Amino acid sequence: MPRLPTSLLINAYRENPLLPSLLRECRSLVSARNELRWLRERAQRDSPEWRTRLRAMCRQRSKGDQPFGELEILCERGVLIPRSDTESFTNEAAKIIHEMAKSKNEPSRTSDLRVLDLCTGTGCIALLLHQLVSPNFKHLKIIGVDISPLALNLAQRNLAYNLEQGYLAESAGTQVQFQRADVLSQGSSESIPTVEGILPKLYELDLPKSNETGSEIETEVRLDLLISNPPYISNKDFWNGTTSRSVRRFEPQLALVPPPQPALPDECNAEDIFYHHILRLSLKSLARVTVLECGDIMQARQVVKMHDSMTQALAQSGREFKFDVRIWPETERECAENGFHLYDGARCVIIRRM
Ligand SMILES: C[S@@+](CC[C@H](N)C(=O)[O-])C[C@H]1O[C@@H](n2cnc3c(N)ncnc32)[C@H](O)[C@@H]1O
Repeated sequence: MPRLPTSLLINAYRENPLLPSLLRECRSLVSARNELRWLRERAQRDSPEWRTRLRAMCRQRSKGDQPFGELEILCERGVLIPRSDTESFTNEAAKIIHEMAKSKNEPSRTSDLRVLDLCTGTGCIALLLHQLVSPNFKHLKIIGVDISPLALNLAQRNLAYNLEQGYLAESAGTQVQFQRADVLSQGSSESIPTVEGILPKLYELDLPKSNETGSEIETEVRLDLLISNPPYISNKDFWNGTTSRSVRRFEPQLALVPPPQPALPDECNAEDIFYHHILRLSLKSLARVTVLECGDIMQARQVVKMHDSMTQALAQSGREFKFDVRIWPETERECAENGFHLYDGARCVIIRRM
């Protein structure tokens, strides 16, 4: 990695003595300022002694770690650094799971929960979900899937590290697993397994099979939560200045831009191809909740449209399900309360099967 110019470090220090340590990781002053703002907001939420906490967080970050909820996520070149927006979407997903468990009027401790995190990267979503939901679910299985062996290795290390630090319950050692598969693969001859192919063996929960529809076009495994932050930037936006230079230079393209496809499904933009595959899987696995991170509100609306078309096609073939689909955060209040810009920045699409 090229050295940062001393003048840049000095200017950053003059602005705020905490900036240089962040600058070494973020590589641009704009990103370092943003990161400092997120960390300050978190420190203020976490502790009345927030200045001490903030200094510790910055030191940690300069060692290559990233706070994610109550966890510390180890980062390394070649794997996307987790973002605070993703942390907010993960928290929202956990909230919905808790609400669902409560509304079923059953003690959630006796329930089972099957979670699939596609495109897991550092494993941040899978691990934080374990921390948030494991106290309420006795039988829990969280699978994180990625195509990149580098990411899977790091995710595994993050599991071990957070167990070691006592940030995760011991049960995470068996209840969270990381597995290699290709979200875009339809099967056939590829050497990397498909997601559908790996699921039955991974979720050995001994649940009676649901007989909700019994159709052969559904997967054997029923998912409770399907969550993903997939690559979603178009090749054009990656190069035309929409994606900042520091992100382009230091984040892996595999994590950001979907690979070119020989043919695209109807009504699907090249950058939305992961959503197409994940929505199909969500329908086939009768997922109770699906949470998909999107780059902005426009992309989130596009994902909602894709889901509508797929469910309409299903209804025409006699298989009608009811869904509650929403974009989060959406209202001014939701944005303000969760630190999102009202018009700009990432959103997630939340799909609940009713
Ligand atoms: C945007 S990153 C998200 C990482 C992490 N979930 C997070 O939120 O920080 C997308 C991830 O998708 C993975 N990926 C790219 N193509 C894939 C594919 N065809 N199948 C599975 N994972 C893929 C990348 O390796 C990368 O880790």
